[in-house]
Amino acid sequence: MIPVMDFGLQPLANDFCKEGEERAGYAPLKVLFCPRCTLAQLSIVVRPEILYSRYAYFTSTSQTIQNHFDTLAQDIMAETEGRELFEIGCNDGRGLRHFKDLGFAPVYGMDPAQNLCEVAKTRYGIDAICCFFSEKVQFPTLIGLKPDVVLARHVFCHVDNWAGFVRGLENVSRSDTLVCIEVPYAVDQLQTGSFDQCYHEHLSYLTLRAMVALLKDSQFHLHRIIRYNIHGGVILMMLRHNLSGIAPDASVQEFIAKEQVTETHWKDMDWKMRTSVTELQRLVFGATGCGKRVCAYGASAKATVLLNLCRFTKKQIAFVTDTTTTKLYRNVPGTDIPVVDEGALIREQPDYALLTAWNYEKEIITKEKWFNGKWIVPMPTVHVI
Ligand code: TMP
Repeated sequence: MIPVMDFGLQPLANDFCKEGEERAGYAPLKVLFCPRCTLAQLSIVVRPEILYSRYAYFTSTSQTIQNHFDTLAQDIMAETEGRELFEIGCNDGRGLRHFKDLGFAPVYGMDPAQNLCEVAKTRYGIDAICCFFSEKVQFPTLIGLKPDVVLARHVFCHVDNWAGFVRGLENVSRSDTLVCIEVPYAVDQLQTGSFDQCYHEHLSYLTLRAMVALLKDSQFHLHRIIRYNIHGGVILMMLRHNLSGIAPDASVQEFIAKEQVTETHWKDMDWKMRTSVTELQRLVFGATGCGKRVCAYGASAKATVLLNLCRFTKKQIAFVTDTTTTKLYRNVPGTDIPVVDEGALIREQPDYALLTAWNYEKEIITKEKWFNGKWIVPMPTVHVI
């Protein structure tokens, strides 16, 4: 494993705390790359109970994500007639509610965060089992029948024990179950240069080659690959059981054939991180030095990475706006920058807003048409709008 990126000591990206509240602390953030299978992973694993027992991230209710759910549902429905859906890492149940409204039934989920499972039940009427998904889960007693579709969105890259996860998939599936795993695609991440997607929750940066190596000794194989243009580029990996008798789609070989991920790509992103941080510091320190006010928009995990790398405090970034109530009036981890409600942008009219939620750029800039200041957009390269 070759070290390719080093972020130094970083706070846990979703550890939003109030003044004086105990924080989980800091941990080294370093990416290692395996030239044989092209998988990149973090050098250490933070214990999942620390990261996920109480979780501040709620599934986005943005139009961008709602549209994505519609497309995803269509793509899954085109692949299978089965409508019984089980979601691993179902978060607050927003996604399952959407899928249920589109015709999937019954739907049920699993998530390790107690606060999210409660919201799933009370707000969206979704049954969510509160536990980590693994081979140890006794599925037949927990959820009864084996589902037609198993969905895992943005959860696979959070998993340390992949082999155990895949054995868990084997336990929960029939030979005709369709397993759908959506993850950020390393190829896209490297192309966009979105280094802010590296944080302690993202243990691995997936390539299809790595996935083939992982599945080699399992009951599954890659069946179909679909790329979507959200979060800077993600892929949906559809897995089928080896006994399904259904031939894999041509997309699998097409994606693998053109997949290029090397040590150089990762080191280029490390270089890009350093130049972007310098550029952002130049812009923000320059503006605040002349008495201008700067805020940030979207207290995403990516914002924690970016603001900490730039070493900004509330002297530079007066506040970060966010719609998530669990983050409000808490500080961005590792900083004294407060998270405030979305309306602050229009009320306060700062001179600049750093768009830390850059993955919703179009939607947010359209929505915030009453903002008179300028946007600083950090990706794909730092630019001002
Ligand atoms: P994500 O990129 O991981 O989905 O996180 C995006 C964050 O930005 C999340 O905390 C919600 C927040 N957000 C807003 O505050 N306003 C918005 O309009 C959108 C789309 C997201």
